[in-house]
Amino acid sequence: MIRPFRDETERYGHYSLAAESMYDHPFQWGSKRTGPDLARVGGRYSDEWQVQHLTDPRSVVPESIMPSYGFLLNADLDMKDPAGHLAANRDVGVPYSQEMIESASADLRAQVNPDGDTSGLLARYPKAVVANFDGNPQRLTEMDALVAYLQMLGTLVDFSAYDPVENQR
Ligand code: HEM
Repeated sequence: MIRPFRDETERYGHYSLAAESMYDHPFQWGSKRTGPDLARVGGRYSDEWQVQHLTDPRSVVPESIMPSYGFLLNADLDMKDPAGHLAANRDVGVPYSQEMIESASADLRAQVNPDGDTSGLLARYPKAVVANFDGNPQRLTEMDALVAYLQMLGTLVDFSAYDPVENQR
């Protein structure tokens, strides 16, 4: 979200801050967007809504032109080397600690298991959302990963004291 226009800030909240995406690899900003801004969509809908919407957008928003991403429910998540993934990100400047890298695989599994021990995960990532994102605990899928990602978007900075209307005066 880059434009601090009245209609956009009223609908989506504060415009994006550089700090919110400084560790994104790959970089995901662009100059073309179809559909609503997703920069602050985290927590706005339930996990069930997100899965339903991604699987069949028109079942929840009849006029939607968004394509279906239902195939993600059947795509197993590639979990071969989460530690290597974090280490590569550390090499390009993301401040992952050695402990985070060594715990990457366990943390990934802890985040999708609300019934398990999440103390280590939440000590390392206090704002992590723990859930059974795609509704099927038997299988870790790309749908789990995408919904987990959507649910954290815009949640890292506390804008609770920010009033978009007051800010326009
Ligand atoms: C994996 C890729 C995508 C994800 C994760 C995604 C996610 C979302 C989410 C979460 C919303 C609801 C936002 C809100 O109500 O504030 C939304 C809405 C929308 N998206 Fe997507 N989208 C994707 C791809 C696309 C594509 C390729 C298009 C364009 C062809 C598109 C067009 C729309 C439109 C028009 C809406 C508003 C209507 C509706 O809610 O369905 N999206 N999308």
